[in-house]
Amino acid sequence: MAGVFDMVYQQSLVDPECFWRDAAAAIDWSKSWDSILDSSNSPFNKWFSGAECNTCHNAVDRHVEAGRGDQTAIIYDSPITGKKRKISYTELQDKVARCAGALRQLGVEKGDRVIIYMPMVPQTAVAMLACARLGAIHSVVFGGFAPNELATRVTDAKPKAIVAASCGIEPGRIIDYMPIVDEALSLSPHHVPNVIVLQREESLAELKSGRDHDWKAVMEAAEGVDCVPVKATDPLYILYTSGTTGEPKGVVRDNGGHMVALKWSMKNIYNTEPGEVYWAASDVGWVVGHSYIVYAPLLHGCTTVLFEGKPVGTPDAGVFWRVISEHNVSTLFTAPTAFRAIKREDPNGALLNDYDIGSLRTLFLAGERLDPDTLNWAEEHLKVPVIDHWWQTESGWPIAANCPGIEALPIKPGSPTRAVPGYNVQVLDPSGKEVERGEMGAICIQLPMPPSCLPTLWNADERFVESYMSDYPGYYESGDAGYMDEDGYIFVMARTDDIINVAGHRLSTGAMEEVLADHPDVAECAVIGVEDTLKGQLPLGFLVLNAGVSKGGDTISSEVVKMVRERIGPVAAFKSAVVVDRLPKTRSGKILRGTMASIADSKEYKQPATIDDPAILPEIEAVLKTIGYAGK
Ligand code: COA
Ligand code: AMP
Repeated sequence: MAGVFDMVYQQSLVDPECFWRDAAAAIDWSKSWDSILDSSNSPFNKWFSGAECNTCHNAVDRHVEAGRGDQTAIIYDSPITGKKRKISYTELQDKVARCAGALRQLGVEKGDRVIIYMPMVPQTAVAMLACARLGAIHSVVFGGFAPNELATRVTDAKPKAIVAASCGIEPGRIIDYMPIVDEALSLSPHHVPNVIVLQREESLAELKSGRDHDWKAVMEAAEGVDCVPVKATDPLYILYTSGTTGEPKGVVRDNGGHMVALKWSMKNIYNTEPGEVYWAASDVGWVVGHSYIVYAPLLHGCTTVLFEGKPVGTPDAGVFWRVISEHNVSTLFTAPTAFRAIKREDPNGALLNDYDIGSLRTLFLAGERLDPDTLNWAEEHLKVPVIDHWWQTESGWPIAANCPGIEALPIKPGSPTRAVPGYNVQVLDPSGKEVERGEMGAICIQLPMPPSCLPTLWNADERFVESYMSDYPGYYESGDAGYMDEDGYIFVMARTDDIINVAGHRLSTGAMEEVLADHPDVAECAVIGVEDTLKGQLPLGFLVLNAGVSKGGDTISSEVVKMVRERIGPVAAFKSAVVVDRLPKTRSGKILRGTMASIADSKEYKQPATIDDPAILPEIEAVLKTIGYAGK
């Protein structure tokens, strides 16, 4: 007999318009839609076409009007600075309305872009919601990126203003943001006339007269403004994510579909009620932060925790338990790497004895493959269900998950369970046919995708089609490979492109290769992802040097490490590159990166039939052994 989950899932696929119309009733619309799903120009599908709404109204004002004004909307807990603060929905409404007023004073209106380059402080959420209030499109840039990456985003998004902080704080060091902003603006041909700067007392920035405006001063001077109705299909934000080249992809998120899917997910996937405390321990610079630190918990009337710290070292591996017990967290969401870090420091979970984490109902993990060891450790020590779920920047919410709000299904380690209602996930062979259950293939989603999934890439409709829709017509290609078992459980095993996943962060090895290739002494290069017990994967570079180079290999290796840090940023975690005589290739000249990665990880591999010179593989293995990889 079909269970409740099966019934809900079937309804979502048989009649998606009916399914999402029901879900849309949980959102306030200022004008109703003409059509729920307009697929007349597929793959550019539009949800709730013709409708008008405002995301900030639904996330903030609506709750104040409904009597939730005194409830805490945001808990800021910053072990790195020792600060804590609670902001009620009423206070949040006031701050957001005034921030929107300040942006408007600087000429920002509906449809304009605003780049937000800020750390994990409540003002970041205020700035995002202020843009939403005006109908302006925000693009948040993660603090661990270098000026060059910020410049690329400025050039593509062409913002009218930037909202930045004077600094971010990492354990043991302060990162001054304004020199990064200055350099990015000097690198970009796009002129940004106004920058609002939040001065943090840990390091004050020198403001540039005529361009920079002090956050506190503009907030005090500004008048609050009301929510501006936007089309459901208008962009709410652009979030850049790694593509296969150095050019990041600007994933666009709409207003209406995004709200409907996120609000629906809070009860049905996360099983969370309005008024509860929800904590996504991620960073607002990533999609998890957009969706589950800011928008979804607020749309649902929850209290969200904004945590400025690390799972270990701020001050110790008990900080997650301290935050859960102190703030009564009922749902925690983070990446497996955070739990691997905690487990490494406190293998027996001794620090859990210092806190009462009885409020915690469920732990959700995503961002990378959840290894069975981490799953078992978390289940054993937290004594709550641990749910692996799979999604991407492109979807904005889970594609596969156990949905305890509908019906908790049995957990199979290694699988994020089944496709979430709304997603028709299929595993395809290269000809586009569904493979047998248990067989590996490309994980794809049949069109139309549910609300919130990217309608396109910013200024790049062609790239959108070419990147996701061209290899498997009628489907969205996720870029992940894996299989589905007899029960419909999905197993996500690897990327099909050159994306690697470092500490839950998505990075392009292609972008790193572009940097390495720029070194004057490097003739050829390759970057692969090697397995790492803490971060899941780490990038490793291979360099073939030009003939007659006088510098030592070690010197060149450290120079390219420095170049990647300067051009992409510390978040790339690119710490090693080795010099080799030659790279293994196919006869047509394609570098065998996958084979090199298998050798590095001591995995069995088949020598490709098309290999040009098999003698190179033992050479690579020998070099890898000298740095502690291969042959384990
Ligand atoms: N601003 C500036 N620099 C940053 C940064 C930021 N916002 N975030 C990270 N960095 C820097 C780090 O300081 C580090 O620099 P270093 O090379 O000088 O040490 C580098 O970027 C790599 O950072 P990270 O990969 O985070 O490694 P880490 O060693 O600092 O921490 C973990 C390891 C596992 C504790 C950390 O990655 C973590 O908490 N992960 C949680 C997962 C997560 O939030 N994923 C997001 C998707 S859900
Ligand atoms: P991002 O767009 O940064 O969220 O990264 C998305 C990618 O992270 C996916 O395409 C997967 O490769 C990987 N990923 C995310 N969640 C999971 C998961 N639960 N299991 C395996 N891989 C995951």
